[in-house]
Amino acid sequence: MDIISKINTLKKEKNAIILAHCYQPVEIDEVADYVGDSFYLSKKAAETKADIIVFAGVHFMAQSAKLLNKDKKVLLPNPKSGCAMADMLNLNDLRAFKNAHPNIPTVCYINSTAEVKAECDICCTSSNALDVVKSLNAKEVLFMPDRYLGQWIEKQLDNVKIITYSGYCPTHYKIEAKDIENARVLYPNAKILAHPECRRDVTNIVDFVGSTKEIMEYCKTSKDKLFVIATEKGVTDRLNRDSLNNRWGKTFIPIKDNIICEHMKFTSLEDIYNSLITENYQIEINENIFDDAKKCISSMMNAVTAGAR
Ligand code: 13P
Ligand code: SF4
Repeated sequence: MDIISKINTLKKEKNAIILAHCYQPVEIDEVADYVGDSFYLSKKAAETKADIIVFAGVHFMAQSAKLLNKDKKVLLPNPKSGCAMADMLNLNDLRAFKNAHPNIPTVCYINSTAEVKAECDICCTSSNALDVVKSLNAKEVLFMPDRYLGQWIEKQLDNVKIITYSGYCPTHYKIEAKDIENARVLYPNAKILAHPECRRDVTNIVDFVGSTKEIMEYCKTSKDKLFVIATEKGVTDRLNRDSLNNRWGKTFIPIKDNIICEHMKFTSLEDIYNSLITENYQIEINENIFDDAKKCISSMMNAVTAGAR
């Protein structure tokens, strides 16, 4: 049996599902039950009746799935898969940031540790950050760790001051305004799309800003044929694959060849197979912080559901 068939057999035997982020190596989709952005995958984690969730993504995503599923096994196939942005904010830094700006609601990006979530009011993802901040009805908000997502949200709101922590994603940071300007010259008929983790001078001059899944949806439904993608390479790879398989006749060009999150690329099909066999690496969350961290994520889910009504 090939590795894909072996994984699919194990999934059935163990009543497991595999959730995969759009930045994973593209072959992971062959075994994934759901592929998407962090909010979509959190919703799928919250809904599942499976006994085991294998999270093909990075640590904070698997941790969030565990917060939504205390009694299920949540496995991260490769323990090296961290997030450089989440690592930029530890508990001491968070407390110092809050102390410097007392009595202001705190919003943490889902790209943060469970310890940080436990001390914040509400969480958000790139696709719902605007709705989450609006739901607070606050004049000022502390936003962490991603300064660029915070700045992007502030730009879209009148009369809300977003005080941002200094974190950022080193992968998206590599994309510069001059790359967008060059792409405009090279591909004058292309639509240019970027993730809100990109620098402000980048998101200011592109045609569309959205989460990984929103970028993919935009490209799928657009009447345009040529797109330049300013986010991690996994998104461009999936779009070119989907265009080929579904005869969209569309072309997707990465803004640069080196926009790769190495942590996302640690997962292999062998890791997923091993993790289903050994049931490693299990996500454990300290009992002392579990409920508070869960509340931070549940508040996000409730705020977004209420907004949708
Ligand atoms: P999404 O919310 O678009 O999945 O982004 C998560 C992430 O880590 C992007 O770098
Ligand atoms: Fe973290 Fe950046 Fe990788 Fe996303 S792309 S997981 S923010 S390091």
